[in-house]
Amino acid sequence: MAGQVTIRRAEKRDAAELAILVDLSSHGFASWLWHGSVVRGEVETALECGRCQLRSDDETGGWKDASFAEVDGEVAGAVIGYSIDTSIGDVEADHPVLHPLIDLQKKVIGSWFIDSLGVYRHHRGIGLGRQLLDHELERAAGRTASLITESTNEVALGLYRSSGFVEVERMESVPLSADGKTHDWVLLTRSAT
Ligand SMILES: CC(C)(COP(=O)(O)OP(=O)(O)OC[C@H]1O[C@@H](n2cnc3c(N)ncnc32)[C@H](O)[C@@H]1OP(=O)(O)O)[C@@H](O)C(=O)NCCC(=O)NCCS
Repeated sequence: MAGQVTIRRAEKRDAAELAILVDLSSHGFASWLWHGSVVRGEVETALECGRCQLRSDDETGGWKDASFAEVDGEVAGAVIGYSIDTSIGDVEADHPVLHPLIDLQKKVIGSWFIDSLGVYRHHRGIGLGRQLLDHELERAAGRTASLITESTNEVALGLYRSSGFVEVERMESVPLSADGKTHDWVLLTRSAT
């Protein structure tokens, strides 16, 4: 039986747990990117890099934009959401794998972008993902909501479509290695009305 579920805003001290859940929600894509800082000698591990980024007070998509689902006081999942403003037009992807993601974001200026949604496996299937999504839709406060997911992510696509999101565009991903697989990045939006 599910325990007591609470949705709460993240605090700065949550940055490490948030890094784990951002990585989980991206199926390891985030830690692959963060590993670049290890190679450059800036941090000891990829997760340290993620924690550093997410504890920043100024970073878009950092701890200030995050919320957690807790079960009986234990973190079970997280979501991040923020408004995409016109400054995205000046953003240059600092790695080729990010090009399609930034290009898709540039198509939804003015929307409330749901950046990461993830629930630990042992807490899945009890409605936390939907509650976190609904929490972000409330934060969208009348704006169109947008998000990007992988074309292969059937569970997430099912959740988003059943919440009223529709596909507006897709772009092929850039493989992470020479023999890496590709998929499409799918941009979905949900109008507020
Ligand atoms: C996607 C994810 C957040 C869903 O979290 P969750 O807490 O299990 O979701 P919920 O329990 O709220 O279920 C949401 C819907 O998805 C459906 N669903 C959940 N797990 C499913 C599964 N394994 N297969 C098919 N449908 C599934 C449920 O039926 C539910 O629909 P309903 O409310 O109409 O019954 C979770 O699977 C996850 O963290 N996945 C890995 C990270 C990820 O892919 N994140 C999204 C990136 S864009």
